[in-house]
Amino acid sequence: MRKKIILSILSALLFIGCNTQHKPRLDGKKLIEKKCSQCHNLDLPPKTFEDEKAPPMMAVAFHIRDFIKAPNESEKVPRAISFVKDYVIKPSVSKSFCDKHSLESYGVMPSQKGKVSEDELEAIAEYMFEHFTLKNLNDAQALQNKLNAMPKGERLALQNNCLSCHKVDKKIVGPSFKTIANTKGNSEKSLIQSIHNGSKGKYASSNGAIMPAFKSLSDDDLKIIVEWILSFKK
Ligand code: HEC
Ligand code: HEC
Repeated sequence: MRKKIILSILSALLFIGCNTQHKPRLDGKKLIEKKCSQCHNLDLPPKTFEDEKAPPMMAVAFHIRDFIKAPNESEKVPRAISFVKDYVIKPSVSKSFCDKHSLESYGVMPSQKGKVSEDELEAIAEYMFEHFTLKNLNDAQALQNKLNAMPKGERLALQNNCLSCHKVDKKIVGPSFKTIANTKGNSEKSLIQSIHNGSKGKYASSNGAIMPAFKSLSDDDLKIIVEWILSFKK
């Protein structure tokens, strides 16, 4: 009996603990995708379209940060967040920082009142000014340039996480691509099969580590990756 009481007190405590400690922090990234992306493009760098419904969100964030009036640098972001919170619920021509020409072509933003709560909007606005920064834009562009300069097979290997287990000339979890390319009997066809279906026990050096199956890669992508791997054949 006593045990039971103690147990129930303990579980009640745990429950209270859960409730207070895990007050969910709203996910600004998910919310902006859900509530704003149907009109604002969220890519960084942004994509622009002929018939876009609204300026890309990066432009909006840069814009507001440039134009908002603040006594000093550290006040800028808090003020920019307040501006967004107000604007989304009560948009107007006079408040908008958009130039006249853009406002004419887009029309004023329809109020999102009732579609987004104040807490959600706060999380969205915080995310906007954390994510759409000059530094993140430069990083994203540098990564894009790096990807563009790579052979397509290498880019696909990077994007599909192959390089977390394989390097070109050094074994990590899986054999190096040089070893794979120079192993007797390997052909374009057999390697495509192995990536598609996975592989285990073929290379003694892998010590039992397995190659997971990558079923979702298209035939074209598989061919491009394997041609790249086989380019290391001596
Ligand atoms: C139905 C389409 C639509 C949706 C949904 C939408 N917007 Fe907009 N938004 C616009 C248009 C069009 C403009 C440009 C005209 C203007 O400034 O009012 C705009 C402009 C803005 C501006 C002002 C830009 C400036 O430079 O002054 C902010 C801030 C903004 N949107 C934030 C948001 C946020 C945050 C969300 C999601 C909660 C959102 N918008 C959802 C259409 C939309
Ligand atoms: C979790 C680690 C892991 C990941 C991720 C991984 N591999 Fe592997 N891979 C391995 C291991 C381990 C082996 C060796 C398996 C064996 O001994 O049979 C291997 C083997 C291979 C082989 C040789 C197959 C053969 O028949 O000789 C190729 C080609 C290969 N991987 C390509 C890829 C590509 C392309 C990707 C990404 C789409 C990838 N791997 C992702 C671990 C991995």
